[in-house]
Amino acid sequence: RRAMRVHHLAQMKADGEKWSMLTAYDYSTARIFDDAGIPVLLVGDSAANVVYGYDTTIPVTLDEMIPLIRGVVRGAPHALVVADLTFGSYEAGPQQALESATRIFKETGAHAVKLEGGERVADQIATLTAAGIPVVAHIGFTPQSVNGLGGFRVQGRGDAADQLIADAIAVQEAGAIAVVMEMVPADLAGQITRKLTIPTVGIGAGNETDAQVLVWQDMAGFTHGKTAKFVKRFADVGGDLRKAAEQYADEVRRGVFPGPEHSY
Ligand code: KIV
Ligand code: NA
Repeated sequence: RRAMRVHHLAQMKADGEKWSMLTAYDYSTARIFDDAGIPVLLVGDSAANVVYGYDTTIPVTLDEMIPLIRGVVRGAPHALVVADLTFGSYEAGPQQALESATRIFKETGAHAVKLEGGERVADQIATLTAAGIPVVAHIGFTPQSVNGLGGFRVQGRGDAADQLIADAIAVQEAGAIAVVMEMVPADLAGQITRKLTIPTVGIGAGNETDAQVLVWQDMAGFTHGKTAKFVKRFADVGGDLRKAAEQYADEVRRGVFPGPEHSY
């Protein structure tokens, strides 16, 4: 199998080939997703929620992300690994973004970084791109701005559609290699996808984007509590793992495990 590199994303858009992206936060799951042929893995700052147990993505730091990114890179010989820039690590301007992204590149081996925002981060995207650091943008619902956006709400409805289109064009012109669109009406996401030459990656953005992304714990049934409408559960890994833990505890309690076949 070929190793995915940034130029393949443009190629797949040109060929009209749809592709998938999953998050990963450690070596073991990265191996599984890489073996499964997932072309792009995202070490998302959703690690704040699913790895560290924070309520939002706001508190997680680059120091907390870097060891996770290193594990994913080691587990993914074929996938393109994208790493999120954390809240507070790029908003101050292009210089700060460059320092943060450089740190990720030097310390982890990730192939691209992702940051949230459209027009407002175009300078950051241009600076990173000029430095040889590929950037994925993220527009629509941007979780790091949850307080400014007033909660988990669909973005780009009504008059806000024009701003979303402007954001998509701004990140493309700044050099982004792809753009994630989160919680955007399907028609608008389709319209933007047809307008852009870079791939669009939807999450809660309907079926007309070039690619899709989900948090793996959401799509595999490994998330505590309720998931968003846009999530489809492809497995019940949480339920299976719980059963395995219960059965292990039970067999130990009853003296059934370990059996002779597990003993020296
Ligand atoms: O952090 C994350 O997991 C993300 C995806 C949901 C796009 O940004
Ligand atoms: Na993220």
